[in-house]
Amino acid sequence: DIPNIQISLVRSINRSDEECADMINWDELGFASVQTDFIYVMKCSLDQKFSTGALNRYGNIELSPSSGVLNYGQGLFEGLKAYRNTEGDGILLFRPEENALRMQVGAERMCMPSPSVEQFIHAVKQTVLANKRWVPPQGKGSLYIRPLLMGSGAVLGLAPAPEYTFLVFVSPVGTYFKESIHLVVKDEVHRAFPGGTGGVKAISNYAPVFKAQKQAKSEGFTDVIYLDSVQHKYLEEASACNLFVVKGNVISTPITMGTILPGITRKSVIEIARDHEYQVEERLVALEELFDADEVFCTGTAIVVASVDSITYQGQRIQFKTGDNSVSQQLYKVLTSIQMGLAKDDKNWTVEV
Ligand code: COI
Repeated sequence: DIPNIQISLVRSINRSDEECADMINWDELGFASVQTDFIYVMKCSLDQKFSTGALNRYGNIELSPSSGVLNYGQGLFEGLKAYRNTEGDGILLFRPEENALRMQVGAERMCMPSPSVEQFIHAVKQTVLANKRWVPPQGKGSLYIRPLLMGSGAVLGLAPAPEYTFLVFVSPVGTYFKESIHLVVKDEVHRAFPGGTGGVKAISNYAPVFKAQKQAKSEGFTDVIYLDSVQHKYLEEASACNLFVVKGNVISTPITMGTILPGITRKSVIEIARDHEYQVEERLVALEELFDADEVFCTGTAIVVASVDSITYQGQRIQFKTGDNSVSQQLYKVLTSIQMGLAKDDKNWTVEV
């Protein structure tokens, strides 16, 4: 555990929240990296468990050129958010235990030791507290928290690294997609395949989408939808979020069977939608179903819940309902009200920092 003295040292170095508000234009927040004050770092060797970590000043980290993460992509990341509560004096995390558990599943897949749930949540809380002045005012955004787990020890032959680093950094963020969302289905590129790592948050799942994303952007689209890599006919996910398709009272979402990331927002939205009398189906969702869907929306920690305006497949553009009366907006409001402490948290999803 971090001694209290360290935390008070952190607080005295920090400027006040008011000073921070002068430095940053909260109305202009997008989703970009902002250098904050502190990161949390904890290390252990392959055959050990993580024990103690510490807050360090935000800055570059040292890594062996031969580290497992740099050479073989042995790494995982997580994403969660902290919101100011209604009064503005408290800070709420949303389901951090779920992130901790997902990291443990991913670590097992990637042959890495992982922090315990308690260590993970402790590290997240300490990092948020130390960077408190960077948590946006309520309604302006949130503090995005990025835990990383990586093979930091040196290897040359293909093998798990001998040492691991768990690190947490944060950045204030606003809306991920600033404009209306127009997706394109790319059936020649796949994000994941059976037996691979699509179902865990491996860092190596993400850079391979850049090429398809870049091409989609150059064609005027916001992002890409990937299909399953075996039959090429079922929806999987977009580059950074899960997908939902709405038809009448039925909301369908691709089932997670190893190739789709089991999103925490996805899981929460399924529960909220069922509470609101929607029929939610987790199953294989065929591409053709888009053609007579009422709505499509994406979910993710970064994206939250966002209506999709259109999806284009082989030159055919399908337009969907969006706006205040959409199912996705209804779910967005319920979810974010819980996250910000505006609605009663009957499910105990929020955790005070
Ligand atoms: C998140 O929503 O936290 C993500 O991991 C998406 C990220 C690739 C921007």
